[in-house]
Amino acid sequence: MKHLAIIPGDGIGKEVISVGTDVLEAAAQISSFDFDGEIFDIGSDRYLETGELLTDEDVSELRKKDAVYFGAIGDPRIKPGVLEQGILLRMRAVFDQYINLRPVTSWFPLVPLKREVPFDIHFLRENTEDFYMGAGGTFGASSPEAKVKIEREMYKLDIKLDARSSNGDDFAFEIGLLSRKGVERFADYAFRYAEARGDKKVTLVDKANVCTHIYGFQRSVFEAKSKEYGIDLEYMFVDAMAMAMIVRPETFGTVAVPNLFGDILTDLGAQLQGGLGMGGSGNINPGGLSMFEPIHGSAPDIAGQGKANPIAAVLAAQMLLNEMGYPDEGDILRNAVRHCLDAHMTTPDLGGKLRTEEVGKEICSFILNTKR
Ligand code: NAD
Ligand code: IPM
Ligand code: MN
Repeated sequence: MKHLAIIPGDGIGKEVISVGTDVLEAAAQISSFDFDGEIFDIGSDRYLETGELLTDEDVSELRKKDAVYFGAIGDPRIKPGVLEQGILLRMRAVFDQYINLRPVTSWFPLVPLKREVPFDIHFLRENTEDFYMGAGGTFGASSPEAKVKIEREMYKLDIKLDARSSNGDDFAFEIGLLSRKGVERFADYAFRYAEARGDKKVTLVDKANVCTHIYGFQRSVFEAKSKEYGIDLEYMFVDAMAMAMIVRPETFGTVAVPNLFGDILTDLGAQLQGGLGMGGSGNINPGGLSMFEPIHGSAPDIAGQGKANPIAAVLAAQMLLNEMGYPDEGDILRNAVRHCLDAHMTTPDLGGKLRTEEVGKEICSFILNTKR
């Protein structure tokens, strides 16, 4: 029996996680997978009522679970960054989920390219460092000193900047940081992942021609790991990678990408799969508490209208099953998604006429009719 924390969150997060939970229940009915789910009220409504984001009590309750199934956060009533940093990024950091696995797979006929080419790129997005550390601030003539405090599972960091500019202007800064241990474990995961998939190379995406310090450092660690594992390492600058994903997506397998660029490239990747409603992801702490979520946000523009495509959340549930040791059950979820696409039983974003919960029902009945 697996104990799952279920955090629907905001907007369409609630709608797609409701489908995803039904789908997991259907999988449990036809297989040896079994779970209980506890719903956690974490998100914008609670924040507006109580001022709480992710509390210490949430953290200790979540720690008791085997995995987290998460919808989305984000609310137009709240200043950008408050929920994102206070809830989602905090969970990734507190639970040290240092890999964000985001597959980008061709789902015919949804591939919006000139060529009907099959591809299966597995993005491994580093998930706790880079420009996502919240390491920023401002300084100016009246306040030349800026302090930055960072807490991660592996370390605490205190940075003090004594900054003086010649013109007395105000400045804002955001520091991107990579630690040697952080890059090493990221590279280890990437090379092991490539090995397990039978990929002959790892592609490392960066901008080492501009951000030379941070990404030059990352390259040197990956280079050493490439030799250690006997697997080739290929470099791609992120701008060229965006282009190459459109022109020759079939040439990539395991792709390691730092946090910020990984965020951007995987929205592009989601669109290569048919849209944001098709992108699942896993925030992974190998051996620790992992969290599975669609890569899309709360989509306030369509929330509450039954238009949200639940497939991304279902593919996140598939990743949860894989990671929990139930890959066959995961495959059944995937087959159910394939069935909905083939039968044109989809939401409007994929050209269909169904509502979120109707797609969910179709997926569940496909699963329940699967012979084991
Ligand atoms: P978004 O992903 O919510 O939406 C972008 C566009 O894609 C919208 O037009 C939306 O309608 C569409 N879309 C997204 N998911 C869809 C689905 N399942 N089915 C059909 N259409 C879908 O991104 P945004 O609008 O930039 O952000 C909205 C809020 O969500 C912001 O507050 C943002 O910070 C937050 N956000 C949260 C997460 C997360 O919780 N993991 C991820 C991204 C954005
Ligand atoms: C995602 C989201 C988050 C990110 C935001 C909401 C913090 O865009 O999961 O892709 O940037 O990682
Ligand atoms: Mn994103």
